[in-house]
Amino acid sequence: MEVAETIESVRDFVKAARIEGKRVGLVPTMGALHIGHTSLIEAAVEQCSFVVVSIFVNPAQFGPGEDFENYPRPVEADLEICRKCGADAVFMPKPEVMYAGENLTWVTVEKLTESLCGRNRPVHFRGVTTVCTKLFNIIGPDAAYFGQKDAQQSIVIKRMAADLNMPLEIVVCPTVREPDGLAVSSRNKYLTDKQRQEATCLYRSLQKCRQMIDAGTRDAQEIIREMRGILSRPSSAKVDYVSIVDAETLKDVDEIAGEVLAAVAVKIGDARLIDNIIIDLSRQ
Ligand code: PAJ
Repeated sequence: MEVAETIESVRDFVKAARIEGKRVGLVPTMGALHIGHTSLIEAAVEQCSFVVVSIFVNPAQFGPGEDFENYPRPVEADLEICRKCGADAVFMPKPEVMYAGENLTWVTVEKLTESLCGRNRPVHFRGVTTVCTKLFNIIGPDAAYFGQKDAQQSIVIKRMAADLNMPLEIVVCPTVREPDGLAVSSRNKYLTDKQRQEATCLYRSLQKCRQMIDAGTRDAQEIIREMRGILSRPSSAKVDYVSIVDAETLKDVDEIAGEVLAAVAVKIGDARLIDNIIIDLSRQ
């Protein structure tokens, strides 16, 4: 497995793969890799013949007071995981490589970034779309892999790629969960044992949502009230949002119809956790 810290060296590795006619896959990550990430790497390895994993804790997507400084950076363990999963190259640039000098150019996706996580994290998606554009331009992949766990991020990236005619496929892979339903996340490390137990409230609230819709409830506010009840019970939980939105526009819905995204964000102790499910009534 090749390891590149500069733009020139990763480009050289990709160029050599291209000469051999390989299909190039990219898995963008911020490291602290876990089974959620490895599911993306494995999907990429299955569908592509040259897989690059990028590991970069992107300062531009963290707001003031967020966890940029404390974000875990276990470099050696991450490289070992990439090796085991069959990645061909890891791109792990330093911030000064990705942002050499003052960055005056930003990629912004409108509307879709205003609701859900965008409401309380105003610069977050601009940072994500800008760094993903840079990674796509540096590596030039045929396909890039993202997780359903960050549903809004996947939808925003898909829209950006379509609107800007980026010549690649965006593949969205299912959320990987712990046995008790908690979505696997690098931020779960911040939880104490008690908070880890309480963190199951996110998944339980989403299950409640699914059960109510299955039982015929169509009033979004009625479902949100029940979900909020489940999320507010643990002493360590502080709800950021509980939303049911149209899966395409990400606007709140009053009535459940078509394809909807139920999404929650909750601060448990020091960790801000998110989770979501998609419910598609048009298929039922
Ligand atoms: P990061 O949080 O490291 O996540 C990298 C990718 O792994 C994202 O596409 C995310 O959705 C996916 N992922 C995380 N947990 C998952 C889980 N439990 N199941 C399935 N997929 C999961 O998301 C980012 O980094 C950054 O915003 C990035 C896209 C790299 C841009 O900086």
